[in-house]
Amino acid sequence: MKKVAFITGAGGYIGGEVAMTLSRDGAKIAVCDINEEAVNAAVARINESGGEARGYVADVTDSKSIDDAVKRAAQELGGLDIMVHVAGGSARIAGKEAKYLPLTEQEDYVIDRVLKVNLYGAIWASRAAARIMIEQGKGGRIINFSSAVGLMGLRGCADYAASKGGVMSLTKALAKELGPYNITVNDVAPGIVMRPQEGDSSDRALKTNVLGKKCTAADIAELVAFLASDKAGFITGQTYVCDGGRSLSMKGTD
Ligand SMILES: NC(=O)c1ccc[n+]([C@@H]2O[C@H](COP(=O)([O-])OP(=O)(O)OC[C@H]3O[C@@H](n4cnc5c(N)ncnc54)[C@H](O)[C@@H]3O)[C@@H](O)[C@H]2O)c1
Repeated sequence: MKKVAFITGAGGYIGGEVAMTLSRDGAKIAVCDINEEAVNAAVARINESGGEARGYVADVTDSKSIDDAVKRAAQELGGLDIMVHVAGGSARIAGKEAKYLPLTEQEDYVIDRVLKVNLYGAIWASRAAARIMIEQGKGGRIINFSSAVGLMGLRGCADYAASKGGVMSLTKALAKELGPYNITVNDVAPGIVMRPQEGDSSDRALKTNVLGKKCTAADIAELVAFLASDKAGFITGQTYVCDGGRSLSMKGTD
């Protein structure tokens, strides 16, 4: 039987790749995003490639919206096996005008949105999935997105760092709560993931990892695919950093 994977932020760069990769691995995909156009495009991409996907427009900051979408997807696709909460981002997730700023200068609406999408989103999506997975009684996988910034901190991103650090703590506590139900809970912490259009001109990503090459959405999606697979059945409560060694660097050292 095909597994069912619900993916938030599946209209975005990394989420879109996660959706395609889990589809390649045989899952039916519930494509969830706040952006309807992006949902439709991602669903079309998966279905055209021979996969099976349905779209769910929902706002992860609103528990009712995400609860309803997850319930509907489980009914329409035949259950729920995998939840991947990818939706998130730093200041710009609060709108075009929002900027990276020191916390002392940051505006309330930016901090509020960053925490709500990244951390509340992970809490609502995990809870919605866990309720259904517990009721089904056949285990499951919950994978949230943190960030290497949640480990190391970054100037101008205190709100983002706090939200992603919160995701890492959520992973640990929820793994303990859901372990008895054979539901694993992990999070993935990317470093800098380059979009194809960013090209070679952006060398920040190259200089700040020890492999000297760019991380793509596919690098992250393959890690998610492993954590979502049966092979990862004994892994829970962990943060998986995928940053080409970027987080090994300490200020003042090589
Ligand atoms: N790109 C990177 O370098 C990088 C690095 C570390 C961590 N991450 C994390 O990876 C994840 C994906 O990043 P990305 O680069 O693909 O971003 P992206 O902007 O391409 O995709 C994010 C998606 O989330 C959706 N979204 C935003 N608010 C939402 C809401 N309230 N409800 C539902 N969907 C919503 C957006 O519409 C978008 O499609 C994020 O959690 C981000 O913090 C990214």
